Amino acid sequence: MKTQAVRGMQDIFYPDTDLFRFINQVTFEVVSLYGCREIVTPIMELTEVFSRTLGESSDIVHKEMYSFTDRGGDSITLRPEGTAGIARSFISEGLTQDLPLKFYYFGPMFRYERPQKGRYRQFHQLGVEMLGFDSFASDVECILLARDVLKRLGLLADVRLEMNTLGAPEDRAKYRESLQAYFMSRKNDLSEISQIRLETNPLRILDSKDKKDQEIVQEAPVLGDFLSPESRDFFTGVQNLLARSGVEFHLNSRLVRGLDYYSHTVFEFVTDRLGSQGAVLAGGRYDALIEQMGGPKTRAVGWASGVERLMLLLKETGLDQVLLKEFAKGLPNLAVISLDEQSLWHGCLVSEALRSFGFQTDTIFQGNFSKKLKKADRLGAQYVFIVGQSEVEKGLIAVKNLKSGLQKSLQLKGGGDLWSLAGVRAVLAEVQRDLASAQF
Ligand code: HAM
Repeated sequence: MKTQAVRGMQDIFYPDTDLFRFINQVTFEVVSLYGCREIVTPIMELTEVFSRTLGESSDIVHKEMYSFTDRGGDSITLRPEGTAGIARSFISEGLTQDLPLKFYYFGPMFRYERPQKGRYRQFHQLGVEMLGFDSFASDVECILLARDVLKRLGLLADVRLEMNTLGAPEDRAKYRESLQAYFMSRKNDLSEISQIRLETNPLRILDSKDKKDQEIVQEAPVLGDFLSPESRDFFTGVQNLLARSGVEFHLNSRLVRGLDYYSHTVFEFVTDRLGSQGAVLAGGRYDALIEQMGGPKTRAVGWASGVERLMLLLKETGLDQVLLKEFAKGLPNLAVISLDEQSLWHGCLVSEALRSFGFQTDTIFQGNFSKKLKKADRLGAQYVFIVGQSEVEKGLIAVKNLKSGLQKSLQLKGGGDLWSLAGVRAVLAEVQRDLASAQF
């Protein structure tokens, strides 16, 4: 049996799991300020949800989907992204009367890509989809929302916002014709992949990484010249409002995005700190998607961010430590040691009481006393509570500061049955503040 994860898929361990959860939590807090509600959709959809919407010629549909036939004979695909599934859910759940809607999501996505740093076959996206928003001002709000998330994570200084318009589908159809004619005239100089794209999706040649392709692209017609006055006004509106909001952006006419459902505004927040996988957050407007899937005409805009890329960038900048500190409650970790069989239950009682005050507490049952102490230390405990037979009889709990070695005895009060949860809580309540501030 091969005990290894599937290529391109990773296990996430502590403390990365803390960072992972923290990113989800703070993003949720930020998007909530904009009125987003969380949505959870299945990680699998019928294959056509993606194949019909992302574009037959897109890399994702063409070669990156994890698809299989289930036992009932349906073709199923592990979701490569979140937008199409949310659009499907919006239609199939009959939410069309509830517009406008703002959704937040967080979860695993799957793409059969060539794995490298920042690019995985299972990765996680967090994202926002705003359905039923027509105005160009919504594009701006959507971008501001993305920016606020990056700001909350401390990453704003490390990313730049790139933006482009893809115009309306009719604008793009005219542009495509002209672009195809131009590239046709240079066909023999194009890279192999671009020669294929010339037939399937000539727009994608614009973002080719090939040097020679890039030279050819320099002289290619630009979409800006093919925009209708309405499309141009729409994008001018976005730019003006962003500028008035004090947001710096760079127009990039080569930003075409790899998915077919976009129209008008597209944008990416990119960093130079992650090599070739620099896009940490990306999205745009998709006015035709829902109608194309059989729903009513519903204009929409959204974005998604790769959580693993955010984590890499946070580590690269050292901000992960800052965030983790902020996330930690700042309370010391505790451990409880029962010295013998007779005091097992009393140890459990002490742990229960300490946890009820919010302290992370490990109860240690195995080994002799010195082994138990070592274990407590390894588990990161700063204080150890010790109970043994003589403590049980006398109603005492010993507390040891593992760092200083200082030890104290706490006396349970009251007559009759000393060892009740209430009794133990009462005596621990007295030292709670000293523990929290590491006072002894
Ligand atoms: P996307 O550009 O394909 O857009 O992915 C969005 C983000 O997911 C990327 O910027 C990147 O951070 C992350 N990402 C993509 N592929 C990988 C991978 N293989 N490994 C690690 N991270 C990855 C979409 O998915 C659209 N659904 C975004 C959207 C939402 N547009 C409108 N609404």
